[in-house]
Amino acid sequence: MKYFTTPIYYVNDKPHIGHAYTSIAADIFSRFFRIFGDDDNVEKSGKSHVKFLTGTDEHGQKVARSAEKNGLQPIEFCNQVSKKFFDLKEILNLSNDDFIRTTEERHIKSATKMWNILMENGYIYKSFYEGWYSQKDEAFVPDNEVVDGFDKDGNKLEFLKEESYFFKLSEFGDRLLKFYDQNPDFISPNFYMNEVVSFVKSGLKDLSISRTSFSWGIKVPNDEKHVMYVWLDALCNYISAIGFGEDDDLKSLVGFDGDLWKNSYHLLGKDILKFHAVYWPAFLMAAGMMPPKKLYVHGWWTSEGKKMSKSLGNTVDPIEMVQNYGVDQFRYFLFKESNFGFDCNFSTQGFKNRINFELCNDFGNLVQRVLVLASKNSDESGNFRLNYNFSDEDLKFREKYSNVKKNLVNMMEKGQLTEYLNYVFSMIGDANKYVDQEKPWELLKKDETRFQVVISNLISAIIHFSVYLTPYMPS
Ligand code: ME8
Ligand code: MG
Repeated sequence: MKYFTTPIYYVNDKPHIGHAYTSIAADIFSRFFRIFGDDDNVEKSGKSHVKFLTGTDEHGQKVARSAEKNGLQPIEFCNQVSKKFFDLKEILNLSNDDFIRTTEERHIKSATKMWNILMENGYIYKSFYEGWYSQKDEAFVPDNEVVDGFDKDGNKLEFLKEESYFFKLSEFGDRLLKFYDQNPDFISPNFYMNEVVSFVKSGLKDLSISRTSFSWGIKVPNDEKHVMYVWLDALCNYISAIGFGEDDDLKSLVGFDGDLWKNSYHLLGKDILKFHAVYWPAFLMAAGMMPPKKLYVHGWWTSEGKKMSKSLGNTVDPIEMVQNYGVDQFRYFLFKESNFGFDCNFSTQGFKNRINFELCNDFGNLVQRVLVLASKNSDESGNFRLNYNFSDEDLKFREKYSNVKKNLVNMMEKGQLTEYLNYVFSMIGDANKYVDQEKPWELLKKDETRFQVVISNLISAIIHFSVYLTPYMPS
């Protein structure tokens, strides 16, 4: 049983390659474990239980202002942009079971329940916030990171001075450090853990969790002047989708799928690591709940060597990529080109090379060569003549590609999405070498039985490779 999530994307912008990347990564995990997951459910139903969730983050000042700029009511604007993310399911061939919007009732109930529990448990108090705020990141910025009203990336900040509720984050430093220590695999790749630990060690301040200067958000219970801070709202989506808000009795978890939660895996870009590795576990601990099981964090895509931005006009549109080159090609490229976890760069030439020299030459060519040869030795109804009279050598060859499930599961669990592809492609390379060595085109003329055995081996290999590649290239 496994539960995979993507960040819920802000609806202030249309989808780009970065959003596609995280969503496809979550799709790869989900598809893989539906095939290869080995929990009890597989035994019983033949299917491993996987839930894959994605969705949109629709509240907050940034979205409210985008709506205003577009001359729309916030909810109308959200409906329009959320649909663009919803439609990625079909365009990118995603297999998500659910799509959550933070404007949905099930989510509002869940975030409200979370607020009430935190309040009941004594972790929320009312005070006054005075300081800098980044609308772009929807985050409060510490004074020492502000230069003349701008953040360190040069984004303009706003000075806020308003009544606000606070979450007692400062009480969670030791508990978080203990949690990281006891769960060294909580964050993958591991090096992101260092960043998180040093952030927590540097001292946590209480977190402002409500705003009064705008109203586009979830109302704070019993104090309707305030709306919840968009990150507290948004993070709750992961439990909203598995029934957390179903029963509003604060002590009741009726409706909540705790087994799925115990096996929850969040995928995210490194930009929002702090929110997922620090704030979210702290909120959950304060509510008496478990942190997620694991975070798979990935790096940042640039485009032709530069940061993607509207002003540079170098944003890569995943929908155009799929229309121009095909969805499997695009999906393959993303995970072969990047080293999952690390930053990476998109270039059109790099894309074409991956497709022409690897996908076509290595895998495409193997399939093409074998099928053409096989068809030259088929029976009256067009079936290939196969022969399973294997020598010891053949058995060794077959073993190499058929007995690899453990390795594949291991790589997936470690989040080594790129290593996995490299591994499958090294097997494909071996199969191509096998063709060169056995020279089936010569066997066809002089030893028909041996020809059939070699072709049987190769067809079996191709079937295996296709299954292994299905999570990446489902169509
Ligand atoms: O942060 N390279 O939403 P968001 C790689 N709503 N990944 C990228 C990317 C890039 N250049 N650009 C975006 C939010 N991403 C919040 C999340 S979750 C409870 C709330 C991907 O629309 C990556 O997954 O800004 C990143 O973490 C996410 O989009 C940010 O999306
Ligand atoms: Mg962002």
